[in-house]
Amino acid sequence: MSRVIVCDHPLIQHKLAFLRDASTTTKDFREMIEEVSTLMAYEITRELSLEPVEVQTPVSKAQCYTISGRMLGLIPILRAGLGMVGGVLKLLPSAKVGHVGLYRDPETLKPMEYYVQLPTDVQERELLVLDPMLATGGSAVAALDVLKARGCTQIKLMVLIAAPEGIAVVQKAHPDVDIYVASIDEYLDDHGYIVPGLGDAGDRIFGTM
Ligand code: PRP
Ligand code: URA
Repeated sequence: MSRVIVCDHPLIQHKLAFLRDASTTTKDFREMIEEVSTLMAYEITRELSLEPVEVQTPVSKAQCYTISGRMLGLIPILRAGLGMVGGVLKLLPSAKVGHVGLYRDPETLKPMEYYVQLPTDVQERELLVLDPMLATGGSAVAALDVLKARGCTQIKLMVLIAAPEGIAVVQKAHPDVDIYVASIDEYLDDHGYIVPGLGDAGDRIFGTM
């Protein structure tokens, strides 16, 4: 079974309060999503592997470390995942970015795929799938299916707010994918919205309410 890691750093929780607030403007919401994404990326990258390297300082040789292992890839789930990309790239500027376009059918709540564009070497990279919301779990599972069908094996999922139902669905379908969340909320309402959640993340990022 995969791990579920709650990123409960006080700065993340503080900013989450602004994201949840219905009176937060589109401009502030967009900026705050980026900031929370940077902070979460800082927590997630704690697990990157290091290799020793010797550096000549002005005084003497120093035994230092640099990041080693696979190159990284970010996979935002369109649209709302796009709002997280800039924030993560601040810490991982060399990561390549692939896109998986999915929208949730409002009647069936099933994910509909409309766009996939991935780096050519995607299967060799360690991937971070980005989406602010994990509700029924359908979109995350579909995105992970797309990546695994292309041979990707090292994948983490980073979401801001998750419903317990969605976490269970992803863990069942993809037990090898660890899930990083800022908050696990209470439940899904009859329309598949996370309660209390923050509303429709894509609409709030792009101002399409
Ligand atoms: C939202 C959100 C997730 C999905 C979560 O996207 O960004 O991708 O819903 O719901 P699920 O877990 O039930 O699949 P939406 O389909 O509204 O598209 P958008 O990002 O274009 O607004
Ligand atoms: N998608 C969102 O943007 N918000 C929810 O609460 C559920 C799905």
